[in-house]
Amino acid sequence: MQRTEKLKRVYIRTWGCQMNFHDSERMLGVLQKEGFVSVDDPKEADLVVFNTCSVREKAEQKFMSELGRLRHLKRSRPDVKIVVAGCVAQQKGEAIIERMPHVDCVLGPQNIGRIGETLVQSRAVLTEDNPDIAETDLPAIRKEGVSAWVNIMYGCNNFCSYCIVPYTRGRERSRPPESILVEIKELVSKGYKEVTLLGQNVNSYRGGISFPELLRLVNQIEGLERIRFVTSHPKDLGDDLIEAIATLDKVCEHIHLPLQSGSDRILGLMNRRYTYNDYLRKVEKLRSAVPGIAITTDIIAGFPTESEEDHRATINALKEIEFDGIFAFKFSPRPMTKAAEMEGQLPEELKGERLSEILQLQDEITEKKNRTLEGRVVEVLVEGPSETDKSKLTGRTRTNKIVNFYGDPINNIGRLLKVRITKGLRHSLEAIPI
Ligand code: 5AD
Ligand code: SF4
Repeated sequence: MQRTEKLKRVYIRTWGCQMNFHDSERMLGVLQKEGFVSVDDPKEADLVVFNTCSVREKAEQKFMSELGRLRHLKRSRPDVKIVVAGCVAQQKGEAIIERMPHVDCVLGPQNIGRIGETLVQSRAVLTEDNPDIAETDLPAIRKEGVSAWVNIMYGCNNFCSYCIVPYTRGRERSRPPESILVEIKELVSKGYKEVTLLGQNVNSYRGGISFPELLRLVNQIEGLERIRFVTSHPKDLGDDLIEAIATLDKVCEHIHLPLQSGSDRILGLMNRRYTYNDYLRKVEKLRSAVPGIAITTDIIAGFPTESEEDHRATINALKEIEFDGIFAFKFSPRPMTKAAEMEGQLPEELKGERLSEILQLQDEITEKKNRTLEGRVVEVLVEGPSETDKSKLTGRTRTNKIVNFYGDPINNIGRLLKVRITKGLRHSLEAIPI
């Protein structure tokens, strides 16, 4: 009997970004064609996939300790297949197989379509560069819901000096517009109302048309209500994209635009290729062309050589721009990256202090901004019962803010509702339907 015939249950655990979570949906899609169903407990699985993230050391450590725990599983059931996928898989490759005898296969993010091969191979390392990635459409099993992720491009060419992604996900490759449109139409026919277009740098989409042109085509899809996209690079954010956000009715008024630092000297060392002033001007343009647009960002605290003055520049930037939300991280030296080799690495403690100051300041700003929304009527796309209070519904505004309110779960899920904001909190809004 072929081995694949008795392997039927898969457990997938995912770390990292939306791209990685979507990769897991695709692996599940491929595995379903092989007759698999997904289970929530690794003990019940015939195949365990860890889809990993290496963007910061912490994410990697978390996964490593979980992986260690699978040793017992393998000992008690030697038949279980253990696959390490994702960015750590790509970065460590062979080393994982060598050091972790209970791991059967290593599968890089460019090769997730080959997950089926891991069932019949053992001790295999599938981490080759895959130039066909954008031309090969893989099936996806998504959680049922109203919102779906859709890949538009893979990889990254920017080589920011701190970032491991160009090494794990390879060069930029754009998916042809036709396959993107076909996939979105199919999603709409299944009831999805919102898509998030995924790419490491969507502004450099080159599928024969530009990214704003792609948005225009997606905007024409009937039945689709909302379009989101991540991530944008400030250096490539042009007037044409700003105009697309301003004029295309389905494109939501939210942009995630990673600033990373408010200091030009640090931005230079990061190889970001914009100055704080360039960034600020783009924010001003966005805000005047798209009234009420929400802008969120990423900040790195304690990049090598960051002085108190550089840090103050970041603090001032946060005060000046008043982002709707931020993700902030301590600088984490990553293998292969330039920044990891730089002189002037800061002590963990100092990085931690700066990060706390950044987070605390932003918490106040977020809360203040959310409070200014009180009394406003906004449109929410209802996603389902609220996580924290099952008697409430939860949804998102077009500006990507979470809203909780009382309402009928049966008739409202997947619908666009008008609600009045009654309270602006730090991480969400409370509202009443009108
Ligand atoms: N250290 C800390 N943060 C990092 N990021 C990427 N690489 C690193 C690193 N080495 C952050 C950036 C990026 C986000 C996805 O993760 O802010 O925008
Ligand atoms: Fe995503 Fe980057 Fe983490 Fe890879 S390393 S999973 S691209 S965040």
